[in-house]
Amino acid sequence: MKQVFGVFGDPIGHSLSPAMHNAAFSALGMDCIYHAFRVKPEKLGRAILGAEAMGFGGLNLTVPLKEAALKLGCIKPDPLAERIGAVNTIVFGETGEIRGYNTDGLGAKQALQDVAVEIKGSKIVLAGAGGAARAIAFQLAADGAEIIIINRTEERAIELAKDISAAALPGKVEGKGLSGLKDLLENASVLINTTTLGMHPNTDTAIATAEELHPGLTVFDIVYNPLETRLLREAKASGAKTVSGVLMLVYQGAEAFRLWTGIEPPVELMKKTVLEALQA
Ligand code: ATR
Repeated sequence: MKQVFGVFGDPIGHSLSPAMHNAAFSALGMDCIYHAFRVKPEKLGRAILGAEAMGFGGLNLTVPLKEAALKLGCIKPDPLAERIGAVNTIVFGETGEIRGYNTDGLGAKQALQDVAVEIKGSKIVLAGAGGAARAIAFQLAADGAEIIIINRTEERAIELAKDISAAALPGKVEGKGLSGLKDLLENASVLINTTTLGMHPNTDTAIATAEELHPGLTVFDIVYNPLETRLLREAKASGAKTVSGVLMLVYQGAEAFRLWTGIEPPVELMKKTVLEALQA
């Protein structure tokens, strides 16, 4: 009998995860299927326990369920997910235990490593202070990056920086508002955008202009709809290296796949599948 995997979220109709994981299962000849389920936050606990009872192989959680999962008594989070305060991957253990992980930060780290960014000791400007910023900042601080979090609402950036500093990770973190970006970037080697600027339908906005960027920067936009955001176009015009948000999506999924199956997924095929779905 096929083993079922799934992603829970609301809305969930546009999720690319089913296409990505089903392509991987099929290429590996695994008798598994991955499906998207619309689940409301108040029913999350019942849905997860139901999936466990029915022998699901594993789950992903997406908006708005990642934070809600940690409030459920039934999930045992790993230390990184607990610090981040959000779970995007659920693993069902042999003896009925339900473990929660967060692979978003790891996905971002691997996307940066793809373009040979050395995380340890690097100076990173991270724009945004929402859930995605939180996952990425905790991961990169754990890996020894020096991070300046900048956010429209400065207090949120300061708050997030405080939370990370309290975890006593190797990397130093500071929070600021959006002003003086050009000067901040002069001393940085990486800019990561986790804000919704540039995301469909507001495709003509960007956190920085070419004039504020420089050729020594790697600019990573986690927005992947559209595939080439305004920020990535500005980055190219300035001579900076660019990293697409598609990579983070694929790498967080690949890490979830490893956690569920212990098998190395066909990452290049997953990338191709996601790109085709986005271009369709
Ligand atoms: P997620 O959890 O997906 O990261 P979120 O919590 O909604 O998303 O966060 C969105 C981020 O985009 C926030 O950092 C938000 O800034 P505020 O904290 O000031 O709201 C940022 N953002 C959204 N619209 C923006 C805009 N027009 N200009 C600058 N930043 C914006």
